[in-house]
Amino acid sequence: MLESERLRLSQEIEDLAAKYNYQRQSLLPILQAIKTKHHHISDFALQEVARLLSIHPVEVYGVVSFYSFLSTSQQGNFVIRLCRTISCELAGKDVIARQLQNELGIKFGETTADGRFSLFWANCLGMCDQGPALLINDYVFTKVTADQVFDILEACRRSFGVFALQGRNTLNSEAAVQSNVKTGVSVESGVLSNNDLNQGLKASIQGTPENVIQIIKESGLKGRGGAGFPTHIKWELAAKSKSEQKYVVCNADEGEPGTFKDRMLISDYPDLVLEGMTIAGYALGAKSGIVYLRGEYSYLLKSLQKAVDARRAQHLLGADILGKKGFTFDVDIRLGSGAYVCGEETALIESLEGQRGEPRNRPPFPVNTGYNSNPTIVNNVETFVMAAHILAKGPGWLKQQGTKLSTGTKLFSVSGNCAHPGIYEFPYGVTISELLRKVGGEDAKAVQVGGASGRCVPRSQFEHIIAFEDIPTGGSVIVLGPDTSMLNVAKNFLEFFNEESCGQCTPCRIGNRRLLEGVEMLEEGKCSIKYLRELQNLGKSMQLASKCGLGQSSPNAFLSITEYFKDEILGKVHETVQLEKGGTRA
Ligand code: FES
Repeated sequence: MLESERLRLSQEIEDLAAKYNYQRQSLLPILQAIKTKHHHISDFALQEVARLLSIHPVEVYGVVSFYSFLSTSQQGNFVIRLCRTISCELAGKDVIARQLQNELGIKFGETTADGRFSLFWANCLGMCDQGPALLINDYVFTKVTADQVFDILEACRRSFGVFALQGRNTLNSEAAVQSNVKTGVSVESGVLSNNDLNQGLKASIQGTPENVIQIIKESGLKGRGGAGFPTHIKWELAAKSKSEQKYVVCNADEGEPGTFKDRMLISDYPDLVLEGMTIAGYALGAKSGIVYLRGEYSYLLKSLQKAVDARRAQHLLGADILGKKGFTFDVDIRLGSGAYVCGEETALIESLEGQRGEPRNRPPFPVNTGYNSNPTIVNNVETFVMAAHILAKGPGWLKQQGTKLSTGTKLFSVSGNCAHPGIYEFPYGVTISELLRKVGGEDAKAVQVGGASGRCVPRSQFEHIIAFEDIPTGGSVIVLGPDTSMLNVAKNFLEFFNEESCGQCTPCRIGNRRLLEGVEMLEEGKCSIKYLRELQNLGKSMQLASKCGLGQSSPNAFLSITEYFKDEILGKVHETVQLEKGGTRA
């Protein structure tokens, strides 16, 4: 690097660090800005960032190497990420992968000799109802066909000069960012009705913060991210803390394969999301909110920021909101950088603090010791939308639908082998067969509910209901048609977890590797029944011994598939069972 270039880069990084007040927790946005402009984070840049933020370069390297969207090696001006997760696999991603490699003359993980293109696999891009999907920088392309690949690459080549000059992608993407939204409930009573926008906030500030929490409690609202933790408990615990600084964090790191409803909420209903966060801010006595938006959704950043700015202008954010003296709350948006585990709340907080997104030990819980050691609540996007509705319509509104233990409606992201994939709203308690009728997936042989970390439900259980007391879900429903290879589904999910495990704990890091090897042996017809049982036991111990939700849930799909589709799987194992006598693996 020439001395003049070094000086220029040094100044640039100094400006970035100054913009963020040289704060440690700004490490990620600083690195993201450098990566976007220079297509990698050079050794020199890494050292400069470390110097300016007063942290060790090894720590900076640790962060860069953790996130798949950051890199120390030079990448192309156009970084192509093709989704390889199950819904895109079912939609034919292999053909697109082959065509991309043929057109570019490189393999996945490589960069073209002219430095224009890098090609990578990506895990779920949140476009599962419109696969195969790929991301080029921050442009998303959906329903891609093999013959479109050439045109897409040509469009990149044509815009190269402008792109390089402005550091912006000038492609005219044809992507359909919006999914079809269908609702199984009446529009007035559904979560997507927004005719009462800001009524919830107005009603909130007329009462006390305790009132707000009481209303949320009476409604029976449980977190919509999947775990189903009662929302009011988090809010209550954080509210009780005497700390001066508290945080309301919106978890928009929607990385669970097959889930894309939060993308729609952020793009089409940002006001409702921000209103829900503001209500939480009032209830907790928090002045600061943060939306953690997954890096794969960076194309939504602009419109979300616009919504934040507009609310500030309308006194719906900022100081003395709606004229209420002393009620101050504002929202900042932070981008993730391609790490599924950051959807786990403590990993997300680590990421916000500029660390590797590795889950923390609990206790302490975020409601006591969260972002920057302050009380923090982390709720899902849909939970905040629900909270805004509840405050507008009263606690009884949620109870009008759903079941006793799972009140209200739920948004479902439906993809896979069905005639009408998209986003649906149903009351909790809907049976899987009812849902399948609506989406045109009646001939399914199984449904994966809850994404890769959920469970595979066979046809014999289609009368079960989707609710916290039966089959819970954060919203992902992947329909698996009669011709689907269930081993392939298990393999796809295990590849996903092997890629996304943060590697902190042994059960998850090694266990997922063993399970994947086992599935590969099953595929080749080389796995004994005895070893299959050992793998099932391993999966069960991973559920108990892993440190966080990722490791605990990662064997779910494998366990349910090997339990319910034994015949299909044994078709492969049969051939080797005779070899098992000595109890060897194959
Ligand atoms: Fe490909 Fe979700 S976008 S599976």
